[in-house]
Amino acid sequence: MIFGRPSTKYYRQRLLLFALCITVTTSSLDTNNIEYRVVGTLPEKSQTNDTITVVIDDAPYPLSLSANDNLTYIGSAPIAKKEYYYAHIDPDNDNKVTSREPFTRQPKQSDTDYEFYNRSQAYWDIPTLPHLYDPLYHRKDSDLHLDGQIGTIHIRANSTDLMNLHGNPLDEDAFVTGNMTFIRGQELLTFEDVEVELSGRSSRWNPKLSYSVKIPKESGKSLYGYRRIKLRSLFTDPSYIREALIYHIIRATGLPTTDFSYVRLYINDQPVGFFGLIENFKNPWLVNEFGNGEESDYQQGNLYQARLVGDIFGPGGHISDLGYYGENTTVYEEGQYKIKEDPSDKNPSYKPLIELIKFLANAPTDNLEEWEKHFNMESVLRSMALEIILGFSDGYSTFADNYYLYQNGLNAEQFIYIPADVDISMGSSMSDMSQMLTGDYHTFPGFLRRPLVKQFLRVPEYKQRFEEILQELATYLVNPMILDPIIDAVADMIRQDVEWDENLPRLGKTEIDILANQTISLFDDEKLAGIVDMDTIKDALERPQPLPFDVAVNGPTGHISMTGVKEYIANSSRAILEFYDK
Ligand SMILES: *[C@@H]1O[C@H](CO)[C@@H](O)[C@H](O)[C@H]1NC(C)=O
Ligand SMILES: *[C@@H]1O[C@H](CO)[C@@H](O)[C@H](O)[C@H]1NC(C)=O
Ligand SMILES: *[C@@H]1O[C@H](CO)[C@@H](O)[C@H](O)[C@H]1NC(C)=O
Ligand SMILES: *[C@@H]1O[C@H](CO)[C@@H](O)[C@H](O)[C@H]1NC(C)=O
Ligand SMILES: *[C@@H]1O[C@H](CO)[C@@H](O)[C@H](O)[C@H]1NC(C)=O
Ligand SMILES: *[C@@H]1O[C@H](CO)[C@@H](O)[C@H](O)[C@H]1NC(C)=O
Ligand SMILES: *[C@@H]1O[C@H](CO)[C@@H](O)[C@H](O)[C@H]1NC(C)=O
Ligand SMILES: *[C@@H]1O[C@H](CO)[C@@H](O)[C@H](O)[C@H]1NC(C)=O
Repeated sequence: MIFGRPSTKYYRQRLLLFALCITVTTSSLDTNNIEYRVVGTLPEKSQTNDTITVVIDDAPYPLSLSANDNLTYIGSAPIAKKEYYYAHIDPDNDNKVTSREPFTRQPKQSDTDYEFYNRSQAYWDIPTLPHLYDPLYHRKDSDLHLDGQIGTIHIRANSTDLMNLHGNPLDEDAFVTGNMTFIRGQELLTFEDVEVELSGRSSRWNPKLSYSVKIPKESGKSLYGYRRIKLRSLFTDPSYIREALIYHIIRATGLPTTDFSYVRLYINDQPVGFFGLIENFKNPWLVNEFGNGEESDYQQGNLYQARLVGDIFGPGGHISDLGYYGENTTVYEEGQYKIKEDPSDKNPSYKPLIELIKFLANAPTDNLEEWEKHFNMESVLRSMALEIILGFSDGYSTFADNYYLYQNGLNAEQFIYIPADVDISMGSSMSDMSQMLTGDYHTFPGFLRRPLVKQFLRVPEYKQRFEEILQELATYLVNPMILDPIIDAVADMIRQDVEWDENLPRLGKTEIDILANQTISLFDDEKLAGIVDMDTIKDALERPQPLPFDVAVNGPTGHISMTGVKEYIANSSRAILEFYDK
């Protein structure tokens, strides 16, 4: 009976059950410890026998090195009543605390996360960026990047091999094989036989290097669905925020791109620095981005990477500007376009790209259907508007560089434009920034010289749509009202790690002089006249490294080669809205 009065027996049973529960709970408090897990290095590890311990309500409990990772200490200990913290102790001196975290942690009721030594906060509320446009393609969901959390990557490899890798930064084929752990939140993932190489081009002379990592396909493992990642050094950006913000902005406009998150990098137990984790546009990236992660089903096309160079500064000099240079196909194969990923039929070819370039040279002004057959035009127009408003100083307009064209499926005729490598942007510049911040794209260095831009601007509908996107971006996305709260939240999250990074020794060769001389002699070329500004380049090379963090975030910096991040956004947005008289 539903409404009947419960019997006394029922109450007795309930009471008994309740009592049992209490007993079980109390006894678990007494005997069931939780696991404490902390990641961190010991000072002067080799010289002392110091180890890490957890101090719970003033009583120390030993932790021991994890079997899976040499930076991670684990141990079982009671739940804190009041507080706990991690400390270094000296076992040769009566377990005396030699140093400790300068704060205490709140009690945890179950196994802790992998907590990072000396970081009081592990989760940060970062406001999400509103989506301005629907995504053009449906990207597979992944937990590779979690906003508001910082992971740790630890690479172990033969130290002689690593020394050779760092000692020959220009060797693009060099790699070492090692093991990697990825640690974040409750997860510690291990990978064997990963390939580690240096990545980037001119950045190879920087003292802080960037890396790319490949998890072998044969291992059957992946990092949340990705096998190839890049670790970006963020070295040229004293705000450490530009790439994070720009990749999020690109995503918010619905374009295919990588996501971004921060990691702390260690190599062979040594801290290497604070890095940006991004996806390498190599498989399974294409499948995740365009084929919903179904590796067996998806039939991909060629992926071309624009690399500017070819033979630019010598005779020939065909750059990756999408210009048509006649029928002889060898002029497109000088190295300015690289086939980054082969199509599914394993027949990489320049032919589809050359067909596209030929179409562009003679593109109609009154036939949108023809255009759409060859380009996903929203991908082009959104990308070009981003170049302008975000001040891409190493992009298609300026250097005809740093973008990808993806043939949208095996043997497809249509291409998708993908912006990439956005570190020299948003107020970090090699061009005259006063020309980038007029609000009028006609003054933007290089923009009107580029064949793709010249041609789409001749089509009234595309010109109109491009200008509309620019204004929508300035109003709803690349606007201080939207971005400043995000920048402030990210700055709070990374401040301590930036300070940590700036005080670490570097592994690169630090041949800034060579880079400076090369840059100056290479860029002082008539092909780049009016695009590269030599005064700006010289200012960049003479700038002290690093600018103070808050100055780099907010501005003004007193440098013509670098504004504050917020300053650039405010000025760019305002200039565009004023130009269109909004
Ligand atoms: C570390 O421990 C070893 C073995 O107990 C001992 O021989 C050595 O002296 C200790 N080192 C230091 C720096 O105390
Ligand atoms: C930890 O370091 C020791 C000594 O360098 C090494 O023998 C061991 O393989 C390392 N363990 C892991 C999990 O990398
Ligand atoms: C990688 O891990 C395997 C298996 O644990 C081990 O045999 C090997 O020595 C490790 N390599 C390095 C460079 O630590
Ligand atoms: C590291 O590699 C070098 C040469 O590549 C080799 O001579 C040496 O034995 C290796 N060391 C270890 C610990 O495997
Ligand atoms: C194409 O150009 C290359 C070098 O620019 C030249 O060696 C080759 O003979 C040319 N091919 C044809 C068919 O003209
Ligand atoms: C802990 O962090 C503070 C603040 O960044 C720093 O000043 C201090 O040196 C750090 N201590 C250790 C032991 O890492
Ligand atoms: C760079 O150029 C200057 C002036 O031309 C020269 O004195 C210097 O030796 C060069 N440095 C390097 C590392 O090439
Ligand atoms: C941005 O605008 C402010 C206020 O008008 C101005 O003081 C500053 O010089 C501008 N910065 C740049 C890089 O143009």
